[in-house]
Amino acid sequence: MRKAFITGITGQDGRHLAEFLQTKGYKVYGMMKGQYNPRAELLRDEFPEVEVVPGDLTDLTSLVTALEYVQPDEFYNLGAISFVAMSFNQAELTANVTGLGVLRALEAVRMVGGAQNNPIRFYQASSSEMFGKVRETPQTELTPFHPRSPYGVAKVFGHDITVNYRESYGMYACSGILFNHEGPRRGLEFVTRKITNTAARIKLGIDKEIVLGNTDAKRDWGYAGDYVKAMWMMLQQDDPDDYVIATGETHSVDEFLTLAFEKVGLGDFHQYVKHDPKYLRPAEVDLLIGDPSKAEKKLGWKREVGFDQLVDMMVKHDIAYETHRLKKI
Ligand code: GDD
Repeated sequence: MRKAFITGITGQDGRHLAEFLQTKGYKVYGMMKGQYNPRAELLRDEFPEVEVVPGDLTDLTSLVTALEYVQPDEFYNLGAISFVAMSFNQAELTANVTGLGVLRALEAVRMVGGAQNNPIRFYQASSSEMFGKVRETPQTELTPFHPRSPYGVAKVFGHDITVNYRESYGMYACSGILFNHEGPRRGLEFVTRKITNTAARIKLGIDKEIVLGNTDAKRDWGYAGDYVKAMWMMLQQDDPDDYVIATGETHSVDEFLTLAFEKVGLGDFHQYVKHDPKYLRPAEVDLLIGDPSKAEKKLGWKREVGFDQLVDMMVKHDIAYETHRLKKI
């Protein structure tokens, strides 16, 4: 049985990936930090077959111990402080977890190694935030980076150190430069889920308005379930490489709002939206749009869920989710 080790197991991508790898017959191990992690119970309920292993990206020894125990075939490093807005307030923590955490993970892989003819294959969750103030459109694997947040800067370090370890030590290490990917498992702090969840709550009479920051920002939004397949595909190739994973389409936050409010049956969103400068970021990423042609050609990957279908799926989920919560009150 092939074994996969995932950091960030309780996050949106960790859960999608665990689900996908289980359908492929993998035994999945998920690293979890903390003495009492409130997400542990939720994970156990959703994935009783995932084995939780203690460890922390800020503690190299714990990573080595975890890998010695698991002896994985594949290591997916999805753990990070992943909320861009928070990274401005906790820049040092972000650098330590999201940036240096990758170095520690690579060092742990180098130390534990895996069987001689079956070295551990490493996946790093790189991000389109690295493109930041974009130098060209659409963005490809060769577009220079210009990060606009402590999170983006930390991700650039993680990306570059992954490439460096591959080139220096011949490690099988890949970086997936993933553009925004969403779905019903998205955290409520991210703008797409905040919109679909609040639209559902307004529709059900729980909330009256939604308070947002910059709604002109444009993103290339795909479905997380499609994107975790690309992670796995990268690790099945003969040679390690880096790939952009995106839809090749861009939409503004305003467009997302329009569609979500229409789908929920509230009509024009403008009457429900308020703006608060507290949601503005010190530096913004105005436009992201990725070119996934390398992944399509070399991996045979293609996104299946389009923008309209994504919004639809999230809105339907949130109506059901909030209705269920109402019944419990
Ligand atoms: N979160 C949030 N909340 N964002 C808002 C709001 C709000 O109330 N109002 C406007 N926005 C704008 C942000 O300023 C940003 O331009 C855009 O909506 C998207 O914000 P997020 O959903 O927080 O995502 P992100 O693009 O900053 O980062 C996500 O995508 C990256 C890939 O490009 C995260 O998932 C990162 O971890 C990921 O690397």
